Amino acid sequence: MKRYTLKAALTAAPTAEDFTAIDAPSPECPEGGVVARVIYLSLDPYVGSRLRGRHMGETPPTPMQGAIPGAIVGQVVESRAAGIAEGDYVHAMEGGWQEYCALPAGHFRKVDPKAAPLRAHIGVLGMPGLTAWAGITQLAKAGDGDVVLVDAAAGSVGGTAGQIARIKGASKVVGVAGGPEKCRLVTETYGFDACIDYRAEGWQAALKETLPEGASVFFENVSADMAMIALSVSRLYVRGVLCGLADAYQADTPQAHALNAGAIIGKRAQMLGLVVYDFYPRWDEYVAEASAWISQGKLAFAEDHVTGLDNAPALFGKLMRGGNVGKPIVTVSEEQA
Ligand SMILES: NC(=O)c1ccc[n+]([C@@H]2O[C@H](COP(=O)([O-])OP(=O)(O)OC[C@H]3O[C@@H](n4cnc5c(N)ncnc54)[C@H](OP(=O)(O)O)[C@@H]3O)[C@@H](O)[C@H]2O)c1
Repeated sequence: MKRYTLKAALTAAPTAEDFTAIDAPSPECPEGGVVARVIYLSLDPYVGSRLRGRHMGETPPTPMQGAIPGAIVGQVVESRAAGIAEGDYVHAMEGGWQEYCALPAGHFRKVDPKAAPLRAHIGVLGMPGLTAWAGITQLAKAGDGDVVLVDAAAGSVGGTAGQIARIKGASKVVGVAGGPEKCRLVTETYGFDACIDYRAEGWQAALKETLPEGASVFFENVSADMAMIALSVSRLYVRGVLCGLADAYQADTPQAHALNAGAIIGKRAQMLGLVVYDFYPRWDEYVAEASAWISQGKLAFAEDHVTGLDNAPALFGKLMRGGNVGKPIVTVSEEQA
């Protein structure tokens, strides 16, 4: 079977040219686990850091051997797991860039293909969606009357965060994103009240004008500098969710990500660090809630989609440059075999 791996250990941020396909042995079914045919593969920003050994202590795959990490939705072709039959659908964080994957016990969840489109399980119902839900509902506890500011708002995490804030009662949701196409997605598809293009001249003044009442919650996906800009347009006692540092993932040297303590004190701000792993035990609860929102038309999602594993490296390169518009997703095989 085909597997994508690294050509060599990385010495700089990954580009499409760093990946290569190998012919890998068919996976063996682990005791208590399953083998799945990969249908959808998720491409996520953290993988760029992980491939360089910079993510939560997780080791990079062995070059010319290990699969590039990636969440998947697949169909079970062999099962040694209680309650899982051949033909069932599963989601796993460690499926990888390959046609088939072995998933040990405790490393996959069964998904219901009738509750929502299968592909949604790696985006809006997957890890990015769970991240958004955790930040908005569990950390910021956003609700009635909150004014919420989100950056990287066209992405899977940001777009979902703003929509969940609205569902939970926020009176105003404002996004920040790079370029007019992304800003259109944020307002027209995700239904934010406004989206400020940070590549346009005078954007910080425009952001301030859009938030005369001040944000009561901000959701930070990009950088410490952006968090400080968000803080500057926030009211006292703001809750700031620190979710990601997308602007720093490609840097060649580790950065300090300094926050301005004086500004935080002055605003009496709560800064809330988010790691989605803490919320994995609540995934099924989130999927049940969010599937209903999708079917009620309250929660939209957008995908930057390619077909074929061979197109994964180019889409990953686009994601690393911030060029993706919506959730990057690769169809590896057909839903119906
Ligand atoms: N804490 C957690 O547990 C957790 C879990 C999942 C994801 N995250 C983080 O959440 C954030 C959003 O994730 P996502 O999957 O929805 O990604 P995404 O928003 O689809 O992609 C990242 C976005 O970051 C923005 N960006 C700004 N500067 C960039 C740069 N120098 N290089 C690349 N991108 C840049 C780009 O949007 P613009 O063009 O609009 O700026 C880009 O599209 C990421 O920081 C991710 O690491 C954190």
